[in-house]
Amino acid sequence: VAAHKKLATLFYEPSTRTNFSFQTAMMRLGGSVFGFADPSSSSVSKGESIKDTVKMVSNYADVVVMRTPWEGSAKAASLYSNVPVVNAGDGGHMHPTQTMADRTTITRLRGGVDGLCVGLCGDLKNGRTVHSLIKALAKFNDIKFFLISPRELAVPDYMRVFMREHQMWFTEVTGLESVIPQLDVLYMTRIQRERFASEEEYLRLKDSYILTPEKLENAKADLSILHPLPRVNEITVAVDKDPRAAYWRQVKNGKYIRMALILKLLGIQV
Ligand code: NCD
Repeated sequence: VAAHKKLATLFYEPSTRTNFSFQTAMMRLGGSVFGFADPSSSSVSKGESIKDTVKMVSNYADVVVMRTPWEGSAKAASLYSNVPVVNAGDGGHMHPTQTMADRTTITRLRGGVDGLCVGLCGDLKNGRTVHSLIKALAKFNDIKFFLISPRELAVPDYMRVFMREHQMWFTEVTGLESVIPQLDVLYMTRIQRERFASEEEYLRLKDSYILTPEKLENAKADLSILHPLPRVNEITVAVDKDPRAAYWRQVKNGKYIRMALILKLLGIQV
């Protein structure tokens, strides 16, 4: 349905799932793809600004997908683009298309989102998927958020302000085990090494949470365990066999929602 349409993928930061799922989503729709996964192979390495790159690329592409280490960059780029720009992650800020996959997964598993107890665990300061997810879930009712992180990695102030403004129920805790029994959804995240100012600080915090089958013994029988992936060690491989582990389903849903998003941005009805 999207024959002759082109998707550009500009990835200034590492990616596996997001880049591949956007590319294969476009291929499945019959369109084509170009871009870079490593800015050193493009004119970015000659010092070209994002503004110029996007202005130029938007002459070739029908949709631009972009990931950078800089907060607000996709939004800024969209001001200079003739075509839609999708934020595939802007630094430690937001990652809305991961959230679309997360929300679809939750809805499919639980039948809805209202009234759930949602635990968000790990690097809530730098984890952009967490910020987007909280924002998206503001549209639902009676959700209880348990924000589980070391104090150093608690959600940024702008998220706390957002949650208060939207009258969202939340509590910030440092321990995972004590809240696990209450949760319907447990969203684990990676400690974001690349966003730490000091390696020492990272090493001190990197093993803050490690989810094991033993820790899940007191969890609800119908808990949904999510993770945006990539995982480092925060969920042990033994948990993968647990029927409550839903992170591979998230990957699959990520593919479908990206197909739907591309169609919408291209204005194609199916
Ligand atoms: C996430 C990201 O890039 O923010 N990955 C993803 O796109 N699924 C999560 C992470 O890197 O920890």
